[in-house]
Amino acid sequence: MKWDATKERFGEEDLLPLWVADMDFRAPEPVIEALKEKVEHGIYGYPSHATGVDEAIVDWAWDRYSWEVSEKAIVHTTGVVPALSNIIKAFTEPGDEVIIQTPVYYPFYDVIQKSNRTVIKNPLHFTGEQYEMDLEQLEEAITEDTKMLILCHPHNPGGRVWSKEELAALAAVCEKHQLYVISDEIHADLLYDGYSHTSFASVNEQMAKRTFTTLAPTKTFNLAGIQAAYIIVENPELRLKLRRDLAGTFMNGPNMFSEVATEAAYRHGGEWLKQLMSYIQTNYEVTRDFLEDHMPKIKVVKPQGTYLLWLNCEELGLSANERKEWLIKEAKVALNHGPIFGEEAEHFERLNLASPRKTLMEGLNRIKAAYEKRGF
Ligand SMILES: Cc1ncc(COP(=O)(O)O)c(C=O)c1O
Repeated sequence: MKWDATKERFGEEDLLPLWVADMDFRAPEPVIEALKEKVEHGIYGYPSHATGVDEAIVDWAWDRYSWEVSEKAIVHTTGVVPALSNIIKAFTEPGDEVIIQTPVYYPFYDVIQKSNRTVIKNPLHFTGEQYEMDLEQLEEAITEDTKMLILCHPHNPGGRVWSKEELAALAAVCEKHQLYVISDEIHADLLYDGYSHTSFASVNEQMAKRTFTTLAPTKTFNLAGIQAAYIIVENPELRLKLRRDLAGTFMNGPNMFSEVATEAAYRHGGEWLKQLMSYIQTNYEVTRDFLEDHMPKIKVVKPQGTYLLWLNCEELGLSANERKEWLIKEAKVALNHGPIFGEEAEHFERLNLASPRKTLMEGLNRIKAAYEKRGF
């Protein structure tokens, strides 16, 4: 999609794609080997649930997030977005309010609205450097119709890795108002040096009973095309209800390739991930320095996690639409335009750092040429 559908999406030829959140990198070799082995087997009949995948997930959660998960708490799905939609439908009613903290990954709006639930925004506070949650404002936003909150952790697009203290404070508010929480932790493995991921469900036992944690190997290992994700549901009653509802969609059967890839990634992908994050961090530093040197009116929001870079373009003095036109028509790059994440992001653009340095530099140089031409 990133390379083949850019023209269709952006309406312009020859754009350099630095948008959608997947990577230009080949998946870890052990994943490719495991998939090849499955293909070579040559028999693709109805699969049973792969035996080793749940154990691999449990071990990964423990090794990476020091989070003790039991195999029975894992509910497999074809993607995080489908999981969000199913959880919302299972645990809220039409007309109920679901809170999101904006700007945020834009399908959060869609999954709520397309389920006929109401989006309530608790905008994040931008300090000028990074985002913070505003919990007083959150309490004011909650009404008797508010049933759920979706947390994006780490935060896309801002790159925040929420701290244990911030999560505990959020959990206290959600607990007080008996909200369900979906903690979307798909970016949990993509951490910069010095940061570690605390799963929201691990900070408060009471809230863990009302939390659905969505995870996947797809963002971490560049496997979005295999359609694999899972939900950790520790509360047996909620899990039973969710499983029943998923069974009622008749779209919950296991996929033999995605489970094999998931297991191989979690069992053997650690070294690949380490090298990836080292490369991404250097890409970040190179981009930050390049902007400082050549385009000082575009400021980076220092990421703590994800391979996405949030750019504050306010000083360019363009309206959101003018900036979009400028990037597409003059700079010839495809970025994710801030306002799709929320009106609070009028001045921002999201740049994907997960490309070979040569591609990234090509993109930065294109923006620089357009920047100089305009005399910013
Ligand atoms: C926060 C977040 N959740 C979910 C997804 C997509 O998940 P999936 O492809 O499993 O539906 C993304 C992709 O960028 C994301 O950033």
